[in-house]
Amino acid sequence: MSDELVELAKRRGFFFQAAEAYGGVSGFYVYGPEGAALKRNLEDSWRDRFQVQEGHREIEAPTVMPEPVFEASGHLDGFDDMLVECPECGESHRADHLIEDNTGIEDAESLPLDEVGALIAEHDLRCPNCDAELAGEPVEEFNLMFETAIGPGSGHPGYLRPETAQGIFVEFPRLKEYARNQLPFGITQVGRAYRNEISPRKSIVRVREFTQAELEHFIDPEEDEPPLHRVADAEVTLYSAEQQNAEDGGHVRMTIGEAVEQGVIASDWVAYYLGVGQEWYERIGVDMDRFRFRQHLSGERAHYASDCWDAEAEVDGDWIEITGNSYRSDYDLSKHGANSDEDFTVFRQYDEPKVVERATVDPDMSYLGPEFGGAAGDIADALRTLAERDRTAFEGDEVTVEADGESYTIPVEKTGFGVEEVTEAGEHITPHVVEPSIGIDRVLYTVLAHAYETDEVDDETRTRLALEPELAPTTVGVFPLMDKDGMGETARDIAADLRAHGLDVTYDDSGNIGRRYRRQDEVGTPFCVTVDYESLDDDAVTLRERDSTEQVRVAIADLPDILADLRSGDRAFADL
Ligand code: GAP
Repeated sequence: MSDELVELAKRRGFFFQAAEAYGGVSGFYVYGPEGAALKRNLEDSWRDRFQVQEGHREIEAPTVMPEPVFEASGHLDGFDDMLVECPECGESHRADHLIEDNTGIEDAESLPLDEVGALIAEHDLRCPNCDAELAGEPVEEFNLMFETAIGPGSGHPGYLRPETAQGIFVEFPRLKEYARNQLPFGITQVGRAYRNEISPRKSIVRVREFTQAELEHFIDPEEDEPPLHRVADAEVTLYSAEQQNAEDGGHVRMTIGEAVEQGVIASDWVAYYLGVGQEWYERIGVDMDRFRFRQHLSGERAHYASDCWDAEAEVDGDWIEITGNSYRSDYDLSKHGANSDEDFTVFRQYDEPKVVERATVDPDMSYLGPEFGGAAGDIADALRTLAERDRTAFEGDEVTVEADGESYTIPVEKTGFGVEEVTEAGEHITPHVVEPSIGIDRVLYTVLAHAYETDEVDDETRTRLALEPELAPTTVGVFPLMDKDGMGETARDIAADLRAHGLDVTYDDSGNIGRRYRRQDEVGTPFCVTVDYESLDDDAVTLRERDSTEQVRVAIADLPDILADLRSGDRAFADL
């Protein structure tokens, strides 16, 4: 089915390979007019569910970020895939995918490099391009980030962001001010992310430039709880790590409430967003019999995640990861706090002020100055930091601190170390982050694949995309029976009026009506309006529904309201 879908996508302007005039480059796709409209509707629907209904706010950050961001985030060191190169044709392959595609082994990504190399040899895996032996070829880590130079010269290395999330984390000091230092709050971003994939594949499923819709929900892990009751009854299909590891393990159906109660999903927050996701995927027409949440195995988790459940959809027998739902804890904010001069914490107010012991130092500068010269100030700062962090370091006669890369040992009596009682109104904490991260391209592909159907109408096979009206690139096709005797003008006036009401409309007067219906069915237009001779007398038209092919007669004046209601789901066609 994928082949037919990709052919339809190309022919009808959903998506196609970019720069084909120059041979194209693998991993880059263009969304044509139908695809761009579908993608925009999908993003709007995501915004409605994950942002507007949750009370979160959206930002738009740059796609190029300087190197220190990714040194701190861990992407420079840890954002790698396994690469094996063919010794004959030089083609690069993802070693874990070769294993998954050619053996019964799942999630080879979680295996160490040497084990992957051994499996390639054991199964005598060969280059998919030229059939050369790959046994014995080195399996190496390959960093997926695209590097660039910022400004002229090579002084400022930068990277295209591999996830939109970092653009949110790095701005946390401004964003917390915006949120008046009150947790919890959520920030969303919909935008491009870039990964130099070793082997892009399955059209828009694995590409090098793609769109993510991400929510970073900043929470106080001790104080904040999600409104779990809102999704507790949502029934989900779960494939936990335990089930994956069990010999006879499989999918388990339960409600979100039960999954939390039974400890299948450890974090209430992750469970909450699985519930929200379930609702949204159902709303946008993902086939729930071909959908599951799969927990990452421990070796598979990204460097920042302490738990992760992917939303996966089945297409042509393969499960595709369409969303990552991670508990990122305080990983990102702590890293950016430690590597920058900004404050990535928030102040947590106690219910009642607390009397606490605090270690202080008051270094004797008349000793530090002559003894250590220009380093004295930095040593005094280092002593203060150490006293806050680890007062036991001052228990002996001497204490050692690092300043400017040097080690200095100071008699404790010269540090002015002491412990005092102070009343504190609260404390600084680093918020934790819960993150549903949606791959818009993969969701779009899934929605198309699950909507793609063929059936028989009027003794002909028709192809139709049973897209949800909310997502369909065009809501209504407007046709005159023929462009004569005033029917064309009436139809064009109706189209203009519906557009003025904010609906996406296609006007078509070429070919017979049946052919025009088929053209719209194939791109998923849920409704068509036909102006006939009667319309000129009774100011009414035929309104036809794509899936049932049922038709009803409605007054032209009522069309804008009816179509808006059908699109939003406030009214069903059968009730007209
Ligand atoms: N901020 C978390 C993050 O980026 P991820 O699991 O690496 O997590 C999130 O990516 C989603 O982005 C995936 O579930 C997938 O839908 C999408 N995605 C990742 N790599 C992709 C690629 N090369 N092409 C298309 N979509 C991709």
